[in-house]
Amino acid sequence: MLVLGISGSPRKEETSGTYKVVKTVLEASGCDYELLSLRGRNISGCIACLGCVKDNVCKVEDDLAQLREKIVNADAYVIGAPNYYSGMNVAMHALLERFFQFRHQEGSLLWGKLAVAVGIGGMGGSFPADDIERLLSYNFIETIAKVAGQGAASCFSCGYGETCKVGVPYMAYGEGVKITEDNTPDVTKQADVMHSAVDAGKLLGERLLDGHDRMAVTQRMQQRLMEKFKGTV
Ligand SMILES: Cc1cc2nc3c(=O)[nH]c(=O)nc-3n(C[C@H](O)[C@H](O)[C@H](O)COP(=O)(O)O)c2cc1C
Repeated sequence: MLVLGISGSPRKEETSGTYKVVKTVLEASGCDYELLSLRGRNISGCIACLGCVKDNVCKVEDDLAQLREKIVNADAYVIGAPNYYSGMNVAMHALLERFFQFRHQEGSLLWGKLAVAVGIGGMGGSFPADDIERLLSYNFIETIAKVAGQGAASCFSCGYGETCKVGVPYMAYGEGVKITEDNTPDVTKQADVMHSAVDAGKLLGERLLDGHDRMAVTQRMQQRLMEKFKGTV
């Protein structure tokens, strides 16, 4: 079983909370995995050209072309995104928009696969994790666990965080705040977050190895989407 992890953070691996939590989930799964970062990749959003409707292959020429085969071949996904303005960041949104290519003419390439969604935000990561779950559901991918944690907002390293009155350190700790390692949020020091990442990984490994029935997952996910769309058109 091969699990594909994708971190949507533009930060370097060693400073990105998203990357670290995605990696923790992957390691805990006990499965073979590959971890990719969208950092430095040029992937635009869907342009609705419909070039993919006949063969389920996106015709936009950018860095997604190199990832397509990995996405198709993976048995499951661990997808993580930073919280930008109470939602997943644009890089991850663009990538998941382009999953549109897999959906045409009952294209079943991704149907019934499993995922763990990871969201990391300066305040919290539940919004991006929910967004990831929603976008994956359109390909009948079931998000079996969500992990949300608190990363360091840029204000902790921008150089003005101790005095800037709209920055997170000032707003969180008030006048006279001194930024230290101890008061800078770090997902790896949040025991509850790391536990939930490990639990999510273990669950993913168990579900994959325990006779994962893609057809049953597909039917359940289709039912959920039909309930969502019922009466809306
Ligand atoms: C443009 C931008 C917008 C952001 N908006 C939010 C936000 O609305 N809520 C929040 O909790 N954090 C917000 N943040 C903070 C990031 O989510 C935080 O730095 C997080 O640690 C990023 O994850 P990463 O370390 O994996 O890059 C924002 C950061 C940037 C750069």
